[in-house]
Amino acid sequence: MTRPRKLYVKSFGCQMNVYDSHRMADTLAPEGFAETLNAGEADLIILNTCHIREKAAEKVYSELGRVGALKAAAARAGRRLTIAVAGCVAQAEGEEIIRRAPSVDLVVGPQSYHRLPELLARTERKGAVVDTEFPAEDKFDLLKAPSREAIRARGVSAFVTVQEGCDKFCTFCVVPYTRGAEVSRPVMKIIAEVELLAEAGVREITLIGQNVNAYHGQGSDGATWTLGRLLERLADVPGIARLRYTTSHPCDMDASLIAAHRDLPSLMPYLHLPVQTGSDRVLKRMNRRHTRAAYVKTVARLRAAQPRMAFSSDFIVGFPGESEEDFRATLSLVDEVGYASAFSFKYSPRPGTPAADLPSQIPDDVKSERLHRLQAVIDRQQAAFNGQCHGRTFEVLFEKAGRYPGQIVGRSPYLQPVQVMAPRTMIGEIRAVRITEVGPNSLFGDFAGTGLGAGPMLEA
Ligand code: SAH
Ligand code: SF4
Ligand code: F3S
Repeated sequence: MTRPRKLYVKSFGCQMNVYDSHRMADTLAPEGFAETLNAGEADLIILNTCHIREKAAEKVYSELGRVGALKAAAARAGRRLTIAVAGCVAQAEGEEIIRRAPSVDLVVGPQSYHRLPELLARTERKGAVVDTEFPAEDKFDLLKAPSREAIRARGVSAFVTVQEGCDKFCTFCVVPYTRGAEVSRPVMKIIAEVELLAEAGVREITLIGQNVNAYHGQGSDGATWTLGRLLERLADVPGIARLRYTTSHPCDMDASLIAAHRDLPSLMPYLHLPVQTGSDRVLKRMNRRHTRAAYVKTVARLRAAQPRMAFSSDFIVGFPGESEEDFRATLSLVDEVGYASAFSFKYSPRPGTPAADLPSQIPDDVKSERLHRLQAVIDRQQAAFNGQCHGRTFEVLFEKAGRYPGQIVGRSPYLQPVQVMAPRTMIGEIRAVRITEVGPNSLFGDFAGTGLGAGPMLEA
């Protein structure tokens, strides 16, 4: 065993980066790296970055300014601090990162994380290294599995990547370039990973992929399995009480997946189904491959299969050429579907994507004004959804201590945080909770029928 060293990893962007950061830490653990939450004492800092919008990508450079200063301070104290940039900015910008931020020692793309030990050794021998290849070997076979302690430290709800990359090529999006072509992991590998997590106490699994419902992995029987079939199998893993998956494309909501929502009690009735816009004209120019009517129909089929279903979505406002009428179609779609929550973004032109070169880019003040209007409607819907939870009883999976002494916090089936006065020994349990208060960011409740556990409505 080499000298113990400290690793600090910071993730930006989507859940896959969170998952990848864990797998990088797992792969570096046998090399003698222990994770720290304090960047100031780290020997290795990894920034796991996101390229989805300009703001996300620029964040990396301001962060690199800060860690560059830490590196200089470490050098003055006679200590070597290695700085690595991973994730989608690494993939998209490669060497450019080192040109802009010379303190960076390693730039590593998402498909090369299994090579980290070797790449770090190379930076020690010969200075800055860039690896943004799409290697032939399967990184998932080579990344190290987490220890039982690491799984426990990460909590009772875990992500598992089942699919990576995207073949959809929406005209605004960098993901097909940064993550590469769609790849599905084999069923047996996923089952083994879920069993390992369950044995260490994980109760909830969120299957993740940039286009997760396009999953088509090789099954144990040699056949190609859909996501619906995979979920059905994972529902049988002892200890796993809840299943979720994200993010889905509306075109890939097939019959097996809709049936899974009808048939699997452990599959949570909450679906993130990004639509981006309510205008057919804009959907087409975004290359989303479906119409507004097709999306509405998919939502209706899911609701028919599972009446408890609720939805969230992503929206982009100010896509090139979006007229006021197009934008109003988005508002009317939000009204028509009725969301439990949603994310909305101003269109951000990304280098190398087709939409960045379209004429009729929308001025920023128009984008801001539309974003504001859309967010007001979404906020109202979210408040209405949370409001109608008052007095209802939900199963809550308790995840961690609450913000205030005596409180613990868990998630409802709809991912709402639910705060309850209860002992920490209940973390990891699923209990029926009656919602007694609805706050702006959390629900508050007590244990159904007992009158116990009603917490003060404390929100910072
Ligand atoms: N299918 C993907 C989507 C990734 S991007 C997934 O697995 O999550 C997440 C969201 O970012 C998209 O749904 C879209 O709403 C938004 N987004 C992507 N590219 C964007 C851009 N160029 N400008 C603004 N928002 C963008
Ligand atoms: Fe990007 Fe579209 Fe693929 Fe989602 S489906 S990752 S938005 S290209
Ligand atoms: Fe961002 Fe890459 Fe995820 S661009 S959203 S980190 S796939």
